[in-house]
Amino acid sequence: SDHIIVAIDGYSSCGKSTLAKALAKKLHFVYVDSGAMYRAVALYFLRNNIDLQDSRQVADALKKIHLNFHSRDYETHITLNDEEVSGEIRLMPVSESVSAVSALHEVRTEMVKQQQRMGRSKNIVMDGRDIGTAVFPDATVKIFMTADPKVRAERRFKELAPKNPDITLEEVFENLAHRDYQDTTRKESPLRRAADAIILDNTDLTPAEQLMFALSKVEPYL
Ligand code: C5P
Repeated sequence: SDHIIVAIDGYSSCGKSTLAKALAKKLHFVYVDSGAMYRAVALYFLRNNIDLQDSRQVADALKKIHLNFHSRDYETHITLNDEEVSGEIRLMPVSESVSAVSALHEVRTEMVKQQQRMGRSKNIVMDGRDIGTAVFPDATVKIFMTADPKVRAERRFKELAPKNPDITLEEVFENLAHRDYQDTTRKESPLRRAADAIILDNTDLTPAEQLMFALSKVEPYL
């Protein structure tokens, strides 16, 4: 096709969004944080006490959810029915429920449809769990990120601690392990590396080194 799609998938807190944002900024591509969409849906479900077992309730709720990205800069700004929820979707209640919500068939079908629409005509970088496998199986470049789980928990803890004074490193580690388990074992497009995805283990790499690596993979297509 005539435009470039970069798919970045991997485990929780592997630095996917840091790399995706830096890459999009450098190349002037649109950045889409697909995880923010699942988080916003999870937030709506929490607020409205949606019973995840009740597919009728889930389907009705999905019809009432309108998500929008506002990309003033390369940060994630997402609205849920016109309310800015970018901060709230990062808090623990959402982090703890999002993997169960994202495992639902109805939820995935709707999100994937919206994500595919966003990539139809523009150069984009999208990060998530199933971007290279389900959303854009024909993506121009696919990167699959991994890192040592302890390093990931420490990075995430540093990020969350200022806004969550009661949080512990153990809690963060447990949440990551739990989400990875749910994301890799779910029936509906589980997290896995696409056969043609390039592995990027960033345990010992700086953000600048990761950006150079990714740029070198995209440059041949520019
Ligand atoms: O990327 P982030 O950690 O914000 O994603 C939150 C959750 O959303 C993940 O743990 C996963 O359950 C779900 N997700 C997904 N597919 C995506 C992106 C995120 O299932 N493409």
